Amino acid sequence: MIRFLRQKTNITSILVVRSITLLLLSCTAIRTTVGVISSIPSSLAELPLDGHLSFDELHHIAKDFGNRFQYLPSAILYPKSVSDIALTVEHIWQLGPYSDLTIAARGHGHSLQGQSQTHRGIVINMESLKSPLMKVHRGKSPFVDVSGGELWINILRESLKYGLAPKSWTDYLHLTVGGTLSNGGISGQAFRHGPQISNVHQLEVITGKGEVVKCSEKQNEDLFHGVLGGLGQFGIITQARISLEPAPDMVKWIRVLYSDFETFTRDQERLISEENTFDYIEGFVIINRTGLVNNWRSSFSPQDPIQASEFKSEGRTLFCLEMAKYYKLSDLDTAIKEVERLLSQLNYVSSTLFLSEVPYIEFLDRVHVSEIKLRSKGLWEVPHPWLNLLIPRSKIDIFAAEVFGNILTDTSNGPILIYPVNKSKWDNRTSVVIPEEDIFYLVAFLSSAIPTSTGTDGLKHILTQNTRILDFCERANLGVKQYLAHYTRQEDWKNHFGPHWESFVQRKSAYDPLAILAPGQQIFHKAAPFL
Ligand SMILES: Cc1cc2nc3c(=O)[nH]c(=O)nc-3n(C[C@H](O)[C@H](O)[C@H](O)COP(=O)(O)OP(=O)(O)OC[C@H]3O[C@@H](n4cnc5c(N)ncnc54)[C@H](O)[C@@H]3O)c2cc1C
Ligand SMILES: *[C@@H]1O[C@H](CO)[C@@H](O)[C@H](O)[C@H]1NC(C)=O
Ligand SMILES: *[C@@H]1O[C@H](CO)[C@@H](O)[C@H](O)[C@H]1NC(C)=O
Ligand SMILES: *[C@@H]1O[C@H](CO)[C@@H](O)[C@H](O)[C@H]1NC(C)=O
Repeated sequence: MIRFLRQKTNITSILVVRSITLLLLSCTAIRTTVGVISSIPSSLAELPLDGHLSFDELHHIAKDFGNRFQYLPSAILYPKSVSDIALTVEHIWQLGPYSDLTIAARGHGHSLQGQSQTHRGIVINMESLKSPLMKVHRGKSPFVDVSGGELWINILRESLKYGLAPKSWTDYLHLTVGGTLSNGGISGQAFRHGPQISNVHQLEVITGKGEVVKCSEKQNEDLFHGVLGGLGQFGIITQARISLEPAPDMVKWIRVLYSDFETFTRDQERLISEENTFDYIEGFVIINRTGLVNNWRSSFSPQDPIQASEFKSEGRTLFCLEMAKYYKLSDLDTAIKEVERLLSQLNYVSSTLFLSEVPYIEFLDRVHVSEIKLRSKGLWEVPHPWLNLLIPRSKIDIFAAEVFGNILTDTSNGPILIYPVNKSKWDNRTSVVIPEEDIFYLVAFLSSAIPTSTGTDGLKHILTQNTRILDFCERANLGVKQYLAHYTRQEDWKNHFGPHWESFVQRKSAYDPLAILAPGQQIFHKAAPFL
């Protein structure tokens, strides 16, 4: 399955490599736990770094949020400066194709299937990089300069000091800038502002040759667009300039229910198409054929408690539309009127209006509250066999009928998000892959598996369900693209990129010709002729 593990290594080839590398590079051979010889050049340890390299205590980094794949590296770089990263990459670049060493930039390690790991290579712990110090620039088009390893929650806290905040988010903020910009960064603001990669002015990137390059729409624009959504393939993001807007104080956070899918999506699409609308629009599915449901409205109060208590799902699949209206405390009255006006256009089940009101930061950091609860029950560090799909609008009804009506019997393994976005907010020069339609839906199956279970909440069951969903999409030819995709065969990647594959490969050969960077994505494999 995993080609780059190269399990079949015979003794002679090890000896050959060993003597060649010893001869050419004066290497020290390091015996890793899997018993394969890997060569870390001793010269690496002599690089004049501001931070440091660690050659032991590596196990903690050989894992990620997905909790399913573990690749042990040979070293971890804890960079203190951009030059630490550049020196390290350049050093590996200069070893040439005869070294099999690869480099994985690791953000917060919240990948799902080993994407930020490297087997026997060097992991760069991007969170150690604190330069530049975050700097907020006010003015007509405010922005903030941040390090590629910065967590979004820290950027929010810092920019709020100036009454500002980034525009486009992910649902969870304990992720890094470099990590989400390498994927896309999609949440309930994307219908209006586009994904996070549509809200970046400029990047500083270290290519696979160790060059430090500033890039933007105007300067080295091919690298700029390539890196955005580029799965870490073309360079390591060391700095980013993120667009800001005035921050609201509070958020009216609203949930309403639908029992009819078409009514639900019609309302979602109407909301995202309007000029004056909510500031955040998402939705999720509640399937209750087995009587099991998530506590979907924990902190919400029904507008009409009596009516709401009389509402019965009667085993029907429900669709929850989730919206938020941001406001300044001084504009409360306007916000109330605006929410009333918007809600009056919708066709939800009238007794099911639930409201909550929270400070902006609490709204954005909402998933962290669940994290704390799950951690306390030991349910955070479990396998996460997530499946994220981007589905063309014209196929969403077919998809829903089969997947929510047939394949799934309940939603007790984790939330299933579903919401539309408008393609016009995505830049087709970036590397991110999306469906060929003006409107498409993000459908995110965010499952947690119970490690010891062999039942419906076990890993095997959930993976089988994911496969059934993917098989259906394939069979019915829905034109679906995976987000946070994971493929192990280049053929599948080629398929994923479709007409964009050629330019993706071209960018790889321009910026990381030896395939040193982000090997965990398993798109390209570093040439190592002797192993
Ligand atoms: C609870 C939770 C909720 C989430 N919600 C959303 C959501 O709403 N929307 C959404 O879009 N995503 C969401 N994600 C997915 C998230 O975008 C990915 O996990 C992503 O990988 C970011 O995590 P990270 O910063 O830890 O990056 P990592 O997992 O460490 O890295 C991701 C990839 O990028 C590469 N990389 C990391 N840093 C850099 C860098 N500086 N330069 C170049 N390449 C780099 C890595 O090598 C790896 O290939 C969620 C994840 C979790 C765990
Ligand atoms: C998507 O955005 C474009 C450009 O703003 C707009 O013309 C179009 O009407 C939008 N489509 C929908 C369904 O909202
Ligand atoms: C789920 O279904 C069961 C049985 O039909 C019902 O008793 C329960 O109230 C439902 N839960 C929700 C949240 O609708
Ligand atoms: C990208 O979009 C622009 C308009 O937004 C269009 O003119 C161009 O043809 C598109 N390019 C590709 C490669 O699809």
